[in-house]
Amino acid sequence: MKSNSINEKYNSLYEWSIKDPINFWSEQAGHFVEWMRPWTDVLKKSDDKTHAKWFLNAELNVSSNCLDRHLIKRGDKTAIIWEGDDPDDRRQMSYRDLYKEVCKFSNVLKSLNVNKGDRVCIYMPNIIETAVAMLACARLGAIHSVIFGGFSSNALKDRIIDTQCKVVITANEGRRGGKNIPIKNIIDEALIDCPLIEKVVVVKHTQSDANMIADRDVWYHEAMQQSSDVCNAEAVESSDPLFILYTSGSTGKPKGILHSSAGYLLHCSITFQHVFDYKEDDVYWCTADLAWITGHSYVLYGPLSMGATIVLYEGVPTYPTASRYWEMIDRYNVTTLYTAPTILRTLVGMGESYLNDSSRESLRLLGSVGEPIDADTWNWYFTKVGKKQCPILDTWWQTETGGIMLSQLPHMITEKCGEEVKPMFGIVPDLVDDNEKLTTEKVGNLVIKEPWPGQMLTIYNDAKRFEETYFTNRKHGGYYLAGDRALYNEKGTLRVTGRSDDTLNVAGHLIGSTEIEAALIKHEAVAEAAVVGYPHPVKGQGIYAYVALINEYEPDESMIGELLQLVKTEISGIAKPDVLHWTPELPKTRSGKVMRRILRKISNNEFDDVGDTSTLVNPEIVQFLITSRAQYGV
Ligand code: WTA
Repeated sequence: MKSNSINEKYNSLYEWSIKDPINFWSEQAGHFVEWMRPWTDVLKKSDDKTHAKWFLNAELNVSSNCLDRHLIKRGDKTAIIWEGDDPDDRRQMSYRDLYKEVCKFSNVLKSLNVNKGDRVCIYMPNIIETAVAMLACARLGAIHSVIFGGFSSNALKDRIIDTQCKVVITANEGRRGGKNIPIKNIIDEALIDCPLIEKVVVVKHTQSDANMIADRDVWYHEAMQQSSDVCNAEAVESSDPLFILYTSGSTGKPKGILHSSAGYLLHCSITFQHVFDYKEDDVYWCTADLAWITGHSYVLYGPLSMGATIVLYEGVPTYPTASRYWEMIDRYNVTTLYTAPTILRTLVGMGESYLNDSSRESLRLLGSVGEPIDADTWNWYFTKVGKKQCPILDTWWQTETGGIMLSQLPHMITEKCGEEVKPMFGIVPDLVDDNEKLTTEKVGNLVIKEPWPGQMLTIYNDAKRFEETYFTNRKHGGYYLAGDRALYNEKGTLRVTGRSDDTLNVAGHLIGSTEIEAALIKHEAVAEAAVVGYPHPVKGQGIYAYVALINEYEPDESMIGELLQLVKTEISGIAKPDVLHWTPELPKTRSGKVMRRILRKISNNEFDDVGDTSTLVNPEIVQFLITSRAQYGV
């Protein structure tokens, strides 16, 4: 199809989705999802629009949508092409075999007393068994919560406790960049304080043994041996939760984002089809870890519900060399690559020569997600990786939105970064000012004005926080507040430029500055700490921590080591500050509020205009911080 006709098709579908959402979604739901019982109503929303229910009273099963319905037509088709950290470690699985494996594992979970509505935590490397575990939970109507393998035992414990789960699925070890990661030990440490846990299923992913705890720990392969490969998929209601996924907020603990079954699956499927112009013979590779929302929606649920062949990779882009991605693209004839700017920036930094030994001729489309893509990285992706043959789809969305919300369309080759971004079907974006009023200004805070099927249901265990975080304006408008700043460029295209709150986007991972501060002040020497972001050449945003020590302490190398270790233990290595700026105190207002605005200016080297300091109790500290900034060069 020519780009014009694609454009026209998009325009008419989009218009339909906005003018007549009920009929639009009814038609799409019939096309993209296989139902066990039809709905009575397509949509019911509360008056303030904070809560929306889709496809009421209907039933379905997400795992059977991803597996069973493909068996006749695509039973022998490859569902997953897996490559381990070691390039010689390879495995492929057809839809039929994946279906059998999922049925078997569902029966294992049943034997461990996992039932509909129960929560199951998954702490695994990026391997086929992780996908099996997620799909098996979905098959039983159990709610999975996948936790990123890079989180520390403390972070893991908080999440496990919040879900109140009884069963955890893990592996003996993971592998990344040639190193073995002792996942099972980290789980064991976390579980010391999780009394509700009854069973731990352990996948033997590497040759090393694991310390199995009697009566609690079960080997995956042993349990699977005795398990039947017949397991009926449980009928769940449209709004029954499919999963909880934790994401950092600007304050407090990470939020357990709860997603529905039907609306979520529909949103993932329709966007996967339209954004990636999915075709039956595609080999589609989304490089995200299954533990992030991109892994849930666009490694697993969207592609498998469409019967796609996906690539799943355990390792990092630079191991054994920075050619790894490009070699894999040639090896598997990947047609569609969906990755993150931070990965591309790492590869740009390694030099162009790594592209020389691959042709990448199979590539048709290139996607980007997770953070704003800068013009240099975009150009490299477009010209060097895709040789100007592949459109780049810069997709904006969030854990909370379930799937892609804004994106370029396929077949639209623009020679410039950030042009022609379109809202997905049913998505009505707009901008509000800092008082949450709709604005005609070109720059503002991004809102979504109407509910959409993939929208989160709530924050698990905290409905109040859900309303207060995303619908502070519920009395006038009920718009979903994304927490992002966005602008209209001269072509009238909306682009997201970054967060509007105190969350940092570090290498595509959201981290709350308060989480890092809470970790730093656990150190006995730290009186107070404030964390802000600053532009970082590879990570997008780096972590800049201002630290005030209690009087008798002096900063030195060992103190730096202790603080970094503390952040690693409390949260994850990803959250370690790049800069520690020592200060006698933090700039504060009379009411005791830390002036982050000023701290941000200083870490960004914007000294000329730090703004109004008249409300500070200690304005002299600003000059101190500016003068000492040079010492902490980055
Ligand atoms: C940011 C990841 C600009 C944004 C899917 C958002 C982006 C946060 C883009 C969500 C993009 C994601 N352009 N910013 N294309 N994609 N973001 O929940 O700040 O891990 O709010 O979901 O990432 O991150 P999350």
